[in-house]
Formats: sequence, structure tokens, C-alpha cells
Amino acid sequence: MKTIEQIHAEALAALETASDIETLKELKTAYLGRKGAITGYLKTIAQLPPKERPLAGKKANAVKKELDAVIKSVLQKIQDTLAAQTDTPDVSLPGRPVARGALHPITQVNREICAIFSKLGFDVVEGPEVETDYYNFEALNIPRNHPARDMQDTFYVSSDIVLRTHTSPTQPRVMEKQEPPVRIIAPGKVFRCDSDLTHTPMFHQVEGLLVDKKVSFGDLKGVLTTFVHQMFDEDTSLRFRPSFFPFTEPSAEVDIRCVMCRGTGCRVCSHTGWLEVLGSGMVHPAVFENVGYDPDKYTGFAFGMGVERIAMLKFGINDIRKFFENDLRFLSQF
Ligand code: PHE
Repeated sequence: MKTIEQIHAEALAALETASDIETLKELKTAYLGRKGAITGYLKTIAQLPPKERPLAGKKANAVKKELDAVIKSVLQKIQDTLAAQTDTPDVSLPGRPVARGALHPITQVNREICAIFSKLGFDVVEGPEVETDYYNFEALNIPRNHPARDMQDTFYVSSDIVLRTHTSPTQPRVMEKQEPPVRIIAPGKVFRCDSDLTHTPMFHQVEGLLVDKKVSFGDLKGVLTTFVHQMFDEDTSLRFRPSFFPFTEPSAEVDIRCVMCRGTGCRVCSHTGWLEVLGSGMVHPAVFENVGYDPDKYTGFAFGMGVERIAMLKFGINDIRKFFENDLRFLSQF
């Protein structure tokens, strides 16, 4: 008869070398099965003197429990190794559906704006989001004491580097590099210290600039009217309201007939029947001088519009922050 210690040692040695499931199964039967070594040993306990029986039984059961645990862990190891080895995919598995992405509504509207102006002959250019004080303000005739320069309105990176507060700095950047005629639009992100229902610290603008000989305010009206008619619809009327920007003279804010109520007055248009959509004007002679253009020879117009504003009107969205919360329930509607 083998002692329980012998059985224990033998079993552990055998399990250590077991490297496939078949062998492991055989070992399990050989030691823990109904006719296995441990079961056999347990049967012999009855023949021991009565006072030795409890201890012998206890020992045998402990060995049984341990071997059972060892077998389980060896099995796990073998399965892990097998899993790591099978690198051939199972082609019979059903495919997983691909979750299709879509363009963000702001990207969609941005592209639509660019497409309309491209058809009108405008080139698309881009400028840096981190901008110098010079291009963001100075070159655009925005004086030192202008409120836009306040820390409250502008994100300063350092005393003369800012996050651009509008896309207008692309105007002097483009003009410095080329002679007229200039016909560009410049889409991109802009930044202002501002956050509420209709303002987010980052938003998008599209700048427009056209410079040539004999460009008139009539050209500005024609281009923007064509744009609005294509972006919204042919029946949308426009209103040019006198305004002020340091880099345009004269300047005008452009309103469109409320797309929600068609002019009868509603909450969206604050019961005025009109919606402000962009700023515009004739390029100020001082800006031309800053970039080395002769203001007596050339004239031009510029405009800047907020992409979120246009998207909100187009899709009937009343909270600008929805665009940036990344909630798929919102985004997947566009
Ligand atoms: N940059 C102006 C703004 O952000 C908009 C504008 C652009 C006005 C070009 C006139 C000409 O408010």
C-alpha cells in the first residue's frame, strides 16, 4: 500500500509535466476518479485502527482538495497557451456590425459655406489659431484701448500672443503675401472668454475677403445675398444695418428674415422678425496701408460669420453648447 504522502508527491510530479488536456484528464481520473488512487486510499482507511482513522481521513481529503485545485490551474494554463497560439481567425463567425460615423453638424455647415463661396470663385485658406497681437489686433486697426483687447474677452498666451478672437487676422496675412486681386474665405476656430446659452469659449467663423480695383459695397451686397439665398432659401430677405468695426469703413451687420417665423416675430428673433448672421464692411484704408496696398488704387470688402449661429438657424437648435457635449443622441440626428 502507498501512503497518502507518496500518492500526493507522485500526483504533483505528474501534473507538473502535463502539457495537454488529454493527459490532464487522464491524471484526474487516475487520482481523483471513482477508481482513482485517492478514492482507493480512502477505502483502506476503514482497515486502520479506529483512533488513526480521523487523522488519515482528514489528510486524504486535504490532498484531494489540493490536487483538484492544481488540476484546475494547470487546465487554465494549457487553455491560455492554446488561445495565444491560435492566430488564425474563425471565418465562420458572424460579422460584427460596423458603427458608421458621420460628420459633426458644424463640419457639415462649415463645408457647405465653403462650397458656396468656392463656386463664387473664392479660394479657401487657413490661418493659425494661436495668433500674434499684431495680426489679431494691430494690423486690423484695432487700437490699444479697444475693449476686445481686454483680458476678459481675449485668451492671452503671453503679452503679445493670443488665441485669435476672430478669423479676421487671415486678412492681413493673405494680403501681405500677394498683390490684388484677392478673393479668399478663411474658415476656422476662434476663442473668446465667454460662456452661456449662445456663447462657447471656442467657436467657428468663416472670414471672407475680396480686394480688387473698383470693388463696391454693391459687390458685397450681391455676394452675401447670393450666399444667404443658397444657404437658406431664395425667399430669405436680407437687411444691411450700419455698424462699426475698426477694420472696415463703412461697416454693416447683416440680418436675415427670421427663418423660424418668417418675420412675424417669435422667441428666436426676439420678436424683431430679423436675425443677425454676420459682420461685414469695406476694408478700411488703414488696413491696406498696413499690408502695403495702395488704398487709392484698390478697394475691397470683408465679412465674418459665425458657423454655429448659421447651424443653429439651419437646424433649429436653441442651445449652442449642444454642439460640444458630444452626446450621440444629439449628434446622430444630423
Ligand atoms: N471679425 C468680426 C467679428 O468677429 C467680423 C467681421 C469680419 C466684420 C470682417 C467685418 C469684416 O465680429
